[in-house]
Amino acid sequence: MALKTAITFAILLLFLGSSSAQLSPNFYSKSCPHLFTAVNSVVRSAIRNEARMGASLLRLFFHDCFVNGCDGSILLDDTSSFTGEKGALPNRNSARGFNVVDNIKSAVEKVCPGVVSCADVLAVAARDSVVILGGPNWNVKLGRRDARTASLTAANNSIPPPTSNLNSLISSFNSLGLSTKDLVALSGSHTIGQARCTNFRARVYNETNLDSSLAQTRRGNCPRASGSGDNNLAPLDLQTPTTFDNNYFKNLVNRRGLLHSDQQLFNGGSTDSIVRAYSNNLNTFKSDFANAMIKMGDIRPLTGSSGEVRKNCRRAN
Ligand code: HEM
Repeated sequence: MALKTAITFAILLLFLGSSSAQLSPNFYSKSCPHLFTAVNSVVRSAIRNEARMGASLLRLFFHDCFVNGCDGSILLDDTSSFTGEKGALPNRNSARGFNVVDNIKSAVEKVCPGVVSCADVLAVAARDSVVILGGPNWNVKLGRRDARTASLTAANNSIPPPTSNLNSLISSFNSLGLSTKDLVALSGSHTIGQARCTNFRARVYNETNLDSSLAQTRRGNCPRASGSGDNNLAPLDLQTPTTFDNNYFKNLVNRRGLLHSDQQLFNGGSTDSIVRAYSNNLNTFKSDFANAMIKMGDIRPLTGSSGEVRKNCRRAN
């Protein structure tokens, strides 16, 4: 009897842990051996064309995973039966790189049609982007399947806004199984890419925990009046916006975070020590970042016979 209970318990544990346990770096090694080469060459040429694209692809993966798991839902265009995530507040006029994802998917379909999901294409593209821009490498776990639907409301509710304070950032990440350390490491993504004036206006005009010369510079391209210059861009890392390094954390220590949410990570609270550690040690950051990306990629994937493998990332089959 005790043995039976133990076995049942073990099986239950296996099931509970199974959503991510089913993902594996070798998932396509037989069915699509040229997957990585196909993705890499398209990502490489997109970044050669515009270095910022690496940042945009990385962010797409984050916005995919935080909304009902890493299921390619962010890539779906609106249909008559649902309004998708592209028009949600964090994505509208902001999320980009969809054409590049289409090109990657076409290249993958050429080498193995109907095999690799869009969710997995995005996971590999995000990793390749980080590596190409100088960041760490990791073994991407694969085997996700694609959602058949997407939700604007879910996107609005699940992606933390840049007005968030530290507590809400921590609870948003914790609710998805990501630790406070993961939050800080993953926020290090803001060592690359750009933000729009509408997302840093309040900070550069109203906040005091910001280096005054940076505030002045950023005001120069971000008019005070809401509605004017809303889409004007500024680099999230003022020093090296196309290199994946730890300058983001050095900026935070010097009160040079561009977003309110960035500076929350170094503002006298519990995450100060992590920011300081990453600002002093590039390798610790890189290694924690890689581990946190694997964890983020494990968020609620569709596996087995759930969902589908989309042919075109923009619509369900
Ligand atoms: C911690 C909570 C986070 C908040 C509040 C946040 C917020 C933002 C905002 C407001 C922007 C600028 C968007 C725009 O102005 O159009 C941005 C850009 C970006 N975010 Fe985050 N983010 C967070 C976490 C992350 C994470 C976890 C990642 C990746 C793992 C990430 C990757 C990026 C990248 C790469 C960009 C630049 C995109 C580009 O240039 O196209 N962010 N983020």
